[in-house]
Amino acid sequence: MKQTGFIFDLDGVIVDTAKYHYLAWKKLANELGFEFTHEQNELFKGVSRKRCLEILLEIGKVKATQIQFDQWMIEKNEDYLEYIKHMDASEILPDVPKVLKYLKDKNIPIALGSASKNAQPILEKVDLLSYFDVIVDGNNVTKAKPDPEVFLMAAEQLGVKPEKCIVFEDAVAGIEAANAAKMISIGIGDAEILAAAKYNFSDFTQIDVSFLNTLIS
Ligand code: BG6
Ligand code: MG
Repeated sequence: MKQTGFIFDLDGVIVDTAKYHYLAWKKLANELGFEFTHEQNELFKGVSRKRCLEILLEIGKVKATQIQFDQWMIEKNEDYLEYIKHMDASEILPDVPKVLKYLKDKNIPIALGSASKNAQPILEKVDLLSYFDVIVDGNNVTKAKPDPEVFLMAAEQLGVKPEKCIVFEDAVAGIEAANAAKMISIGIGDAEILAAAKYNFSDFTQIDVSFLNTLIS
């Protein structure tokens, strides 16, 4: 077993894709005849596509047949893919490559732990795929965050004990999942929203080398 492992969420931690997920859900909500706000979008962070649609339909009080449900999932994803079609490294969040490079140079194992089924192509688009030793995403898990499955699977594949894993997350459901896995949770974003995290930072520019060294040792 290796000493320490780092697990990164994707959307809202590595890249600023939360806004595109929001736009795609908002478009669907508007087509179905209701509004979808930024506040409501907080509930969607870290949550699987299927669960997001269930919540959206609850918000709009819309009933769907299975065929409609499946069709709307496809439609939302097609719109999302259209938004991210031209995505490149300019959409990586500040100082993320610096932190990844620091860990890589120290031979610290790195995993992605994301709910998204689009994770791998996004990492390819922004040219960060090579930093990751392990990728666990929405295609591999059966239980969505806040269930700890995604992070436990990542730890196992990294060969690192869960309590030696450090998780970076921007979603309430993701912090809950990391805590349930008995990992060290680091909230990236609003500290009030992510109050359950062990540590909080507004973004990676606030994380310095001495803090990373404390986590590693
Ligand atoms: C998470 C996002 O990373 O992935 C959620 O925070 C999203 O908002 C989920 O619903 C699933 O993403 P995708 O790309 O599989 O629809
Ligand atoms: Mg996220």
